[in-house]
Amino acid sequence: MYLPHFLLPLLILQAKTACAAIDETHFSSDNIIERDVAILGGGASGTYAAVRLSQDLNTSIIVIEPKDRLGGHVDTYVIPSSNATVEYGVQSYMKYGNAAAFFARLGVDIAAPNRRRLTNVNVDIETGAVLGGYNPPASTASTEAMKRWLTLAEKYESILEPGYWNFPAGNAIPAELLLPFGDFARDNNITDMAPLAMAISNVGIGGLKEVLTIDVMQAFGAPIVREFLAGTMFVPVGSNSLLYQRAHDLLRNDVLLRSRVIQTERDGSGVRLVVKSGDVTNRLIKAKRFLVTAPPSITNLKPLSLDPKEKAVFTTWTPTWSFVGLMTIPCIPENYSVSYIARGSAPADHLALRNYPYTLRFDSTGPLGQGLFRVLFATNYTISNEEAKGTIVENVHKLAAAGTLNATNSCKADFLAFSDHNSVLRRVSVETLREGWIQKLYGLQGHRATWYTGTLFGSDYTSNVWALTDTVLPRILKDLQ
Ligand SMILES: Cc1cc2nc3c(=O)[nH]c(=O)nc-3n(C[C@H](O)[C@H](O)[C@H](O)COP(=O)(O)OP(=O)(O)OC[C@H]3O[C@@H](n4cnc5c(N)ncnc54)[C@H](O)[C@@H]3O)c2cc1C
Ligand SMILES: *[C@@H]1O[C@H](CO)[C@@H](O)[C@H](O)[C@H]1NC(C)=O
Ligand SMILES: *[C@@H]1O[C@H](CO)[C@@H](O)[C@H](O)[C@H]1NC(C)=O
Ligand SMILES: *[C@@H]1O[C@H](CO)[C@@H](O)[C@H](O)[C@H]1NC(C)=O
Ligand SMILES: *[C@@H]1O[C@H](CO)[C@@H](O)[C@H](O)[C@H]1NC(C)=O
Ligand SMILES: *[C@@H]1O[C@H](CO)[C@@H](O)[C@H](O)[C@H]1NC(C)=O
Ligand SMILES: *[C@@H]1O[C@H](CO)[C@@H](O)[C@H](O)[C@H]1NC(C)=O
Repeated sequence: MYLPHFLLPLLILQAKTACAAIDETHFSSDNIIERDVAILGGGASGTYAAVRLSQDLNTSIIVIEPKDRLGGHVDTYVIPSSNATVEYGVQSYMKYGNAAAFFARLGVDIAAPNRRRLTNVNVDIETGAVLGGYNPPASTASTEAMKRWLTLAEKYESILEPGYWNFPAGNAIPAELLLPFGDFARDNNITDMAPLAMAISNVGIGGLKEVLTIDVMQAFGAPIVREFLAGTMFVPVGSNSLLYQRAHDLLRNDVLLRSRVIQTERDGSGVRLVVKSGDVTNRLIKAKRFLVTAPPSITNLKPLSLDPKEKAVFTTWTPTWSFVGLMTIPCIPENYSVSYIARGSAPADHLALRNYPYTLRFDSTGPLGQGLFRVLFATNYTISNEEAKGTIVENVHKLAAAGTLNATNSCKADFLAFSDHNSVLRRVSVETLREGWIQKLYGLQGHRATWYTGTLFGSDYTSNVWALTDTVLPRILKDLQ
């Protein structure tokens, strides 16, 4: 369905770049940058790769990042009156792989998360009225189900983590992994863990039952479940942004912020990238290898002039729209959390909580007395940032209209901060997976001097993408020799 719509701009772009080769004589020597590896995107995996390559692996790098900072999904709000920080993006980390050591090397102390106890209220996503008819699983039942899920996920950990280098093809793919999660969950009596799995991982927007089990493991696999159950997750002391500020200090002139690649030439011997940074004259980057860490959506990959082999893989992603923000919402009392859920989940269909085109929740964040709430909103349909804010505010008004939490006055909700985490999801069919889609995806590693890391090439969560990156970097070094 997405194919014709996506391919059209791509074909036009290819036609355009094919006739206009990059002319090096248009760049003064000051504006030509030569490096071993050019890194597209300075989020979790791009920043990690940049530090490891330049500081540990004697490999020169340049990072190209459109935002004005490193860190990707980390969003820290600084309260102006006190300089206290509130995290409204990434919250906490697992110790998996090299993660704790990475914080230590950048001089950032870590501590156990100090989770506040919130009272959760489930409301009907259509009306905002309390959905009293829905009975969430008891916490012991949820933990027991989560333990069973961990055992099941650990069975497949060696083919999924870190990365799919050893993933089998065709009929060798374990049949269980290709079951719709609704069937898998009932077969294995794990439906009681679904509400927590969705709350922690945000998987299942539009409905969890049809998502393939392998894709639920991508979002909520063995490493995160193990650490969640063991209580070994941690938070940085100070703020989540500190690590990325320190990394930026270390990398200094090797980071181009507010920058975009607008044209590329790639072949087996290396890449040439034209980079636009604000009003500065365009620069030419000549690199031996290219490491793509930006979400590999068709939009982000447009300037890369994809070849048919690359297009065959990258046109299969499903786009997803996801937003985080920090708000003041006077009609929700502090210490509350409000989850908007589908009416059909009553009385106890936990897998049906997200059978709706969007998902929404508000969580009181503290510091106390300021009425601050983190908002998480995600849709399975195209939506702009302004429209997303509109839908969020409408849902606050629904609470007041329904008298939920005694909200009577029309409630003036305000955004202190807002950012989008739009990306793509891997949602290919069982047939496509059996036909070797994962092998085609991994077959792109090194193709046209281009390598990939980041959440779409493995599992979600920062520590997982760092561990995946640690499996990609040695391959790039070998390729460079
Ligand atoms: C709401 C939310 C909460 C999360 N909470 C946690 C958590 O508590 N703990 C945890 O471990 N994980 C969490 N995650 C997951 C975590 O954010 C991801 O696993 C991780 O960021 C993935 O790293 P990445 O490098 O693949 O992508 P990102 O970190 O997203 O980095 C991609 C980078 O590419 C840049 N980019 C985008 N387009 C382009 C372009 N065209 N050209 C160049 N660069 C581009 C982006 O600006 C970004 O900096 C959360 C995710 C979300 C959405
Ligand atoms: C680092 O790389 C440079 C250039 O590639 C090379 O000359 C030098 O010997 C390397 N140093 C080490 C310690 O490997
Ligand atoms: C907040 O930090 C800024 C910059 O570090 C500083 O100038 C300012 O005085 C601080 N404000 C408060 C209230 O501490
Ligand atoms: C299914 O799991 C629940 C807890 O989640 C447990 O109470 C129940 O006994 C289990 N049923 C079977 C048949 O194992
Ligand atoms: C979005 O979710 C709704 C509700 O579950 C579903 O009916 C619809 O098919 C989904 N749309 C897409 C594009 O997946
Ligand atoms: C919220 O909870 C904290 C303890 O975690 C308590 O000190 C505070 O009084 C509560 N605030 C309200 C408004 O109930
Ligand atoms: C709403 O009002 C009722 C009746 O006054 C009270 O018992 C209840 O605690 C209130 N709820 C909240 C969330 O304030």
